[in-house]
Amino acid sequence: MGNPIGIKLQLLGGIYHPATKILSSSLPRIGEHRQSRRLVLGFGVSFLSQFTNMSHGAKSFTAFAARQKGAVEKVLENVEWPEQFPFKDEDFLRFDESPDTTFYESPRFVTHIDDPAINALTKYYSEVFPPSNTPGVALLDMCSSWISHYPKGYKQSRIAGMGLNEEELKRNPVLTEYVAQDLNVDPKLPFEDNTFDVITNVVSVDYLTKPLDIFKEMSRILKPGGLAIMSFSNRCFWTKAISIWTSTGDSDHVMIVGAYFHYAGGFEPPKAVDISPNPGRTDPMYIVYSRKLSA
Ligand SMILES: C[S@@+](CC[C@H](N)C(=O)[O-])C[C@H]1O[C@@H](n2cnc3c(N)ncnc32)[C@H](O)[C@@H]1O
Repeated sequence: MGNPIGIKLQLLGGIYHPATKILSSSLPRIGEHRQSRRLVLGFGVSFLSQFTNMSHGAKSFTAFAARQKGAVEKVLENVEWPEQFPFKDEDFLRFDESPDTTFYESPRFVTHIDDPAINALTKYYSEVFPPSNTPGVALLDMCSSWISHYPKGYKQSRIAGMGLNEEELKRNPVLTEYVAQDLNVDPKLPFEDNTFDVITNVVSVDYLTKPLDIFKEMSRILKPGGLAIMSFSNRCFWTKAISIWTSTGDSDHVMIVGAYFHYAGGFEPPKAVDISPNPGRTDPMYIVYSRKLSA
């Protein structure tokens, strides 16, 4: 049976806490900032309660996390997508609606997820990226910073980076070029059609307030068959993440990013991979990926 989706959000007395850790070396985990918020998924099916039920049966959080691992990967299998994009404008509001350029004005030379999660991502990239130094291959790291987590020594003649902080981008050793652009103000990607073989975006898809515009743009600038890899954990700058993200859990996030691919059009059905290195013990790491349709 497919996974019906129709996400309807109810905020039940959610209380926001001051974002005291915003400038620390890692992002707060989702849930650390709030008390009671609930997600109700439409069509009478609640993915959240599905996982709540699982947790009752599990003897430990580690066991729960291990059981959830397989479940997260199944979220995008045989989805019965509603005809219309199921999210509303308010789902893309943030607690902090001040300009993103202000928030990212000072460089942060930090990592936002722990080392095991970074290593898992780098290993994943090493398995799916075109071989290093392949003539004609071009990559784009969206929402990039001083680090892209690409395999050690990985090179292509063109690896573009986009982000908001120029000092961070300038220091990123893997990039051959960069553009600082606020994608929430201008979602148009400044590249020709059919340019890139791979687009990556690490722990940042949750900051995009115009995701459909951006995913359409990603489809435009990918070469036919080109791969888009969105990766995320359970941490974020919660004041800057969209409300539908901060109100939901990991498997919902997989569904949300899958929906971006589906409703943008031009992509193969999106797939999810759970590359969490030590479920329940270190930061989880999820990939939602898709290829641009070849035809
Ligand atoms: C949590 S950091 C992740 C950085 C990097 N991808 C990494 O893995 O360390 C979020 C990134 O998203 C980018 N970002 C956030 N909002 C953005 C926006 N409105 N437009 C463009 N980039 C944005 C920032 O420049 C920042 O580098």
